[in-house]
Amino acid sequence: MSGWEVTRLVLLITHFVGLAAVIGPFIFQLRARTDLSFATMLVGSIVQVVSGGLLIGARRFEGLPVDDLKMAVKLAVALLVLAAVVIGMVRQRRRMGGARPFLLTAGWLAIANVGVAVVWT
Ligand code: HEM
Repeated sequence: MSGWEVTRLVLLITHFVGLAAVIGPFIFQLRARTDLSFATMLVGSIVQVVSGGLLIGARRFEGLPVDDLKMAVKLAVALLVLAAVVIGMVRQRRRMGGARPFLLTAGWLAIANVGVAVVWT
Protein backbone atom coordinates (compact mmCIF):
# COMPACT_ATOMS: atom_id res chain seq x y z
CA MET A 1 0.00 0.00 0.00
CA SER A 2 1.48 3.35 -1.05
CA GLY A 3 1.90 6.36 1.23
CA TRP A 4 -0.85 8.26 -0.57
CA GLU A 5 -3.22 5.30 -0.25
CA VAL A 6 -2.63 5.22 3.53
CA THR A 7 -3.08 9.01 3.67
CA ARG A 8 -6.34 8.83 1.69
CA LEU A 9 -7.73 6.07 3.91
CA VAL A 10 -6.81 7.95 7.12
CA LEU A 11 -8.50 11.05 5.66
CA LEU A 12 -11.57 9.00 4.72
CA ILE A 13 -11.85 7.67 8.28
CA THR A 14 -11.52 11.27 9.55
CA HIS A 15 -14.24 12.25 7.06
CA PHE A 16 -16.58 9.62 8.56
CA VAL A 17 -15.82 10.76 12.12
CA GLY A 18 -16.59 14.36 11.06
CA LEU A 19 -19.85 13.16 9.50
CA ALA A 20 -20.80 11.49 12.80
CA ALA A 21 -19.95 14.68 14.73
CA VAL A 22 -22.48 16.63 12.62
CA ILE A 23 -25.29 14.09 12.31
CA GLY A 24 -24.95 12.55 15.81
CA PRO A 25 -25.77 15.71 17.83
CA PHE A 26 -28.54 16.53 15.33
CA ILE A 27 -30.28 13.18 15.97
CA PHE A 28 -29.57 13.39 19.70
CA GLN A 29 -31.28 16.80 19.94
CA LEU A 30 -34.14 16.19 17.51
CA ARG A 31 -36.77 16.42 20.24
CA ALA A 32 -35.05 19.18 22.24
CA ARG A 33 -36.54 22.67 22.21
CA THR A 34 -34.16 24.58 24.51
CA ASP A 35 -30.44 24.69 25.36
CA LEU A 36 -29.32 23.33 22.01
CA SER A 37 -25.62 22.52 21.71
CA PHE A 38 -23.83 23.26 18.44
CA ALA A 39 -20.19 22.91 19.56
CA THR A 40 -19.63 19.34 18.32
CA MET A 41 -21.47 20.08 15.09
CA LEU A 42 -19.22 23.10 14.52
CA VAL A 43 -16.08 20.97 14.85
CA GLY A 44 -17.64 18.27 12.64
CA SER A 45 -18.66 20.65 9.86
CA ILE A 46 -15.16 22.19 9.77
CA VAL A 47 -13.62 18.68 9.73
CA GLN A 48 -15.85 17.80 6.74
CA VAL A 49 -14.71 20.77 4.65
CA VAL A 50 -11.01 20.31 5.52
CA SER A 51 -10.88 16.49 5.20
CA GLY A 52 -13.00 16.64 2.01
CA GLY A 53 -10.59 19.11 0.39
CA LEU A 54 -7.58 17.01 1.45
CA LEU A 55 -9.29 13.85 0.12
CA ILE A 56 -9.57 15.47 -3.30
CA GLY A 57 -5.82 16.20 -3.18
CA ALA A 58 -4.96 12.66 -2.04
CA ARG A 59 -7.08 11.17 -4.83
CA ARG A 60 -5.38 13.37 -7.43
CA PHE A 61 -1.90 12.42 -6.16
CA GLU A 62 -2.90 8.76 -6.43
CA GLY A 63 -4.19 9.23 -9.97
CA LEU A 64 -7.75 8.36 -8.94
CA PRO A 65 -10.67 10.11 -10.70
CA VAL A 66 -12.34 13.15 -9.10
CA ASP A 67 -15.79 14.30 -10.27
CA ASP A 68 -15.43 18.11 -10.14
CA LEU A 69 -19.17 18.84 -10.34
CA LYS A 70 -19.97 16.37 -7.56
CA MET A 71 -17.23 17.90 -5.41
CA ALA A 72 -18.52 21.44 -6.08
CA VAL A 73 -22.03 20.38 -5.00
CA LYS A 74 -20.65 18.65 -1.87
CA LEU A 75 -18.57 21.71 -0.98
CA ALA A 76 -21.55 24.05 -1.44
CA VAL A 77 -23.79 21.85 0.74
CA ALA A 78 -21.03 21.47 3.38
CA LEU A 79 -20.58 25.27 3.53
CA LEU A 80 -24.35 25.66 4.00
CA VAL A 81 -24.14 23.15 6.87
CA LEU A 82 -21.32 25.18 8.43
CA ALA A 83 -23.25 28.44 8.01
CA ALA A 84 -26.39 26.95 9.59
CA VAL A 85 -24.35 25.66 12.55
CA VAL A 86 -22.68 29.06 13.09
CA ILE A 87 -26.00 30.95 12.91
CA GLY A 88 -27.68 28.44 15.24
CA MET A 89 -24.79 28.67 17.69
CA VAL A 90 -24.89 32.48 17.76
CA ARG A 91 -28.68 32.52 18.24
CA GLN A 92 -28.39 29.96 21.05
CA ARG A 93 -25.53 31.81 22.80
CA ARG A 94 -27.36 35.16 22.65
CA ARG A 95 -30.61 33.50 23.78
CA MET A 96 -32.35 35.06 20.77
CA GLY A 97 -34.59 32.06 20.14
CA GLY A 98 -35.04 30.44 16.73
CA ALA A 99 -31.92 28.26 16.92
CA ARG A 100 -33.79 25.01 16.29
CA PRO A 101 -34.52 25.56 12.58
CA PHE A 102 -30.78 25.94 12.05
CA LEU A 103 -30.09 22.67 13.91
CA LEU A 104 -32.60 20.93 11.63
CA THR A 105 -31.26 22.62 8.48
CA ALA A 106 -27.66 21.64 9.30
CA GLY A 107 -28.60 18.03 10.11
CA TRP A 108 -30.79 17.43 7.08
CA LEU A 109 -28.29 19.09 4.73
CA ALA A 110 -25.52 16.87 6.11
CA ILE A 111 -27.71 13.82 5.45
CA ALA A 112 -28.37 15.18 1.94
CA ASN A 113 -24.60 15.34 1.46
CA VAL A 114 -24.32 11.66 2.43
CA GLY A 115 -26.92 11.09 -0.31
CA VAL A 116 -24.84 13.05 -2.82
CA ALA A 117 -21.69 11.11 -1.81
CA VAL A 118 -23.32 7.71 -2.11
CA VAL A 119 -25.88 8.07 -4.91
CA TRP A 120 -23.90 10.28 -7.33
CA THR A 121 -21.57 7.77 -9.00
C1 HEM B 1 -21.51 17.48 5.45
C2 HEM B 1 -20.51 17.30 4.60
C3 HEM B 1 -20.10 15.97 4.00
C4 HEM B 1 -20.62 14.71 4.15
C5 HEM B 1 -21.79 14.29 5.04
C6 HEM B 1 -19.82 13.81 3.33
C7 HEM B 1 -20.02 12.44 3.22
C8 HEM B 1 -19.20 11.57 2.55
C9 HEM B 1 -19.35 10.12 2.51
C10 HEM B 1 -20.49 9.33 3.19
C11 HEM B 1 -18.34 9.62 1.77
C12 HEM B 1 -18.06 8.13 1.47
C13 HEM B 1 -18.76 7.66 0.22
C14 HEM B 1 -17.95 7.96 -1.01
O1 HEM B 1 -16.78 7.60 -1.06
O2 HEM B 1 -18.54 8.53 -1.95
C15 HEM B 1 -17.55 10.73 1.30
C16 HEM B 1 -16.43 10.63 0.51
C17 HEM B 1 -15.77 11.70 -0.06
N1 HEM B 1 -16.00 13.05 0.19
FE1 HEM B 1 -17.41 13.79 1.46
N2 HEM B 1 -18.86 14.54 2.68
C18 HEM B 1 -18.99 15.86 3.05
C19 HEM B 1 -18.24 16.92 2.60
C20 HEM B 1 -17.27 16.85 1.64
C21 HEM B 1 -16.58 17.97 1.06
C22 HEM B 1 -16.82 19.44 1.44
C23 HEM B 1 -15.72 17.49 0.14
C24 HEM B 1 -14.77 18.23 -0.76
C25 HEM B 1 -15.08 19.34 -1.37
C26 HEM B 1 -15.83 16.03 0.15
C27 HEM B 1 -15.07 15.16 -0.61
C28 HEM B 1 -15.14 13.79 -0.57
C29 HEM B 1 -14.30 12.89 -1.35
C30 HEM B 1 -13.18 13.31 -2.32
C31 HEM B 1 -14.69 11.59 -1.02
C32 HEM B 1 -14.14 10.27 -1.62
C33 HEM B 1 -13.08 9.67 -0.76
C34 HEM B 1 -12.49 8.41 -1.38
O3 HEM B 1 -13.14 7.38 -1.36
O4 HEM B 1 -11.37 8.52 -1.89
N3 HEM B 1 -16.78 15.69 1.07
N4 HEM B 1 -18.09 11.91 1.80
